[in-house]
Amino acid sequence: MKTQTSAYWTNHFLNNSKINRIDWTLKPEISDSEKQNILKSLQAWQLGETSEGKHLINASNKYAKAINDEEYLNAVKLFIKEEQKHGNNLGKYLDLIGEQRIKKDWGDSLFRKIRYFNTNMELWTIAVITVESTAQIFYQALKDATNCTLLKQICTDILIDEASHITFQKERLYIIFSQKNSFSKWISYHAYSCFFICTSLVVWLAHKKLFKTGKLNFYSFISKMRLKLKKVAGKTVLFEHEKVFNPKILIKQNSYN
Ligand SMILES: [Fe+2]
Ligand SMILES: [Fe+2]
Repeated sequence: MKTQTSAYWTNHFLNNSKINRIDWTLKPEISDSEKQNILKSLQAWQLGETSEGKHLINASNKYAKAINDEEYLNAVKLFIKEEQKHGNNLGKYLDLIGEQRIKKDWGDSLFRKIRYFNTNMELWTIAVITVESTAQIFYQALKDATNCTLLKQICTDILIDEASHITFQKERLYIIFSQKNSFSKWISYHAYSCFFICTSLVVWLAHKKLFKTGKLNFYSFISKMRLKLKKVAGKTVLFEHEKVFNPKILIKQNSYN
């Protein structure tokens, strides 16, 4: 896989921050029935996008020093800033339609607890990739669930940003993964898939009303997530330059010795 330097990513985030894709002079036009279907999810994701990112910064700082790439920390800080922009925009929208910015949500609290104990860059990376992947489906469904032009523009802006976020994190996962031995790779590959699918199920349960309003049923949601998993952490991506480790072959070979 072709990976970019941290300086490339710093540059990318700086340039992207100068682009304004939302016309804030537009008035929100959301009907009561739309609101009923999307408000709870909108509030939950607004809260999720507003994290300070302290723990991710700590983990990235430790990791950047270990690999001697201090620029990586700058790229991560700008990445977090972009997530906060999403939170601010969704918050601004909630203010405009006269709804509350919530302070607590069970999904957000659960994810914050996991983040609190996590200082490992690999775990951070797969966790962020998973959330970004669900975010892409979520914001597309939100966009499809409303006729409000302003909300659609906010979603489009987030979707454009998230596509690069996934590439940024996918490259990091590949770099970390490439340094493992065959056995660790085999374990990690399965652990990533398991975490990705389990988290997807939790996100479906928490936001199924919104997904259904955006014309997405459970099967299409899961098949979209499986496709995303294949693209970000599938066998062909992670094991690009080598044969896939297969413990059955190893056992067979050992039994001949
Ligand atoms: Fe985001
Ligand atoms: Fe993101």
